[in-house]
This record gives sequence, C-alpha cells and structure tokens, in this order.
Amino acid sequence: MAQATAASEKESRASRRFEKIQAIVEQYGAAESALIPILQKVQEEYRYLPEEILTFVATALNLPPATVYGVATFYAQFSLEPKGKYIVRVCDGTACHVRKNQTLISTVKEWLGLKEGQSTTEDMRYTLEIVSCIGACALAPAVVINGKVHGQMTPEKVTKALEELEAAEKAEDK
Ligand code: FES
Repeated sequence: MAQATAASEKESRASRRFEKIQAIVEQYGAAESALIPILQKVQEEYRYLPEEILTFVATALNLPPATVYGVATFYAQFSLEPKGKYIVRVCDGTACHVRKNQTLISTVKEWLGLKEGQSTTEDMRYTLEIVSCIGACALAPAVVINGKVHGQMTPEKVTKALEELEAAEKAEDK
C-alpha cells in the first residue's frame, strides 16, 4: 500500500513537471526558433536540463531529439548536470591565472568541502565552476559569486564573501 502511494506520488510529481514544461512551451510557442528561450527557461526552473525534459521539448517542438541535445550541449550556458543553488565561478583566464587564482580555487574547494573531481556540494547548495576570462581582467583575480563580480580577490576575501552569502541565506530562512 505504502509502495503504491509512493509510486502515485512520483507519477503526480512527474506529471506536474511536464505540465510546467508544457506551459513554458506554450509561453514561447512550439517553434524551432523558440528552442533556446525554452531551454533557458527550463534551466532557470531546474538549474539544469534534465534528460527526460529535453526529450519532451523535442516532441513538443516536433524536432529530432538530437537537434535539442545538440543545442543543449553546444552552448556553455546550458548544463546537463544538476547544479547547486549558488554558483561560484573562479576565473581562470590569463590575467587571473598569473595573479594566483589557484589559491582562490583551492580556498573555495576547501570551504565547500568538495572532493577531487566534485564540483557540486552534496546538499546541492553550491557549484564551483572554473571559467575562462569573464572580461574583468582589470580586477584580476576575479570571482563571480551568485552573479556578482568580486575583483582583486584573496583567499580571505573569497572566504568572507562566501560566509556573507551563507549568513544571508540563514537570515532568509528565519
Ligand atoms: S582573465 Fe580573469 S577576468 Fe579576464
């Protein structure tokens, strides 16, 4: 009985999810030209592009799944992997690299408790991304935390910014 309830909950979650995607498709129109805005909206909703949703979008837009996957994998803005609520981007362009961004990367990894090869924390709160030049070379080394650029970063400053974000989140929860 409990198993049947769990299965029906799962089904209704899946059906709500597809209703939401259907509404997004209707909002932008079921045309190939709307594919990118639809994928952007889906990613905004889920923080990544789940595989079954890409298939659903392909069907709704009457496109081959390979076309939708092609677009989803071509653009760096899209992710096929789940991401954390907060994205920490450490710039690894030349200017930031020569100004010791490696110490920032190791500080962030340590602060987030990321293991080797892991980029998202287990609680899905943070994702660390190492990115190429973000166009703020004059401020090197630069880190983008939750969309905000922080320049001339040091391990102390990046730790402080992360602590502030964590404190703000806790205050919001209250
Ligand atoms: S190299 Fe880091 S902002 Fe340009």
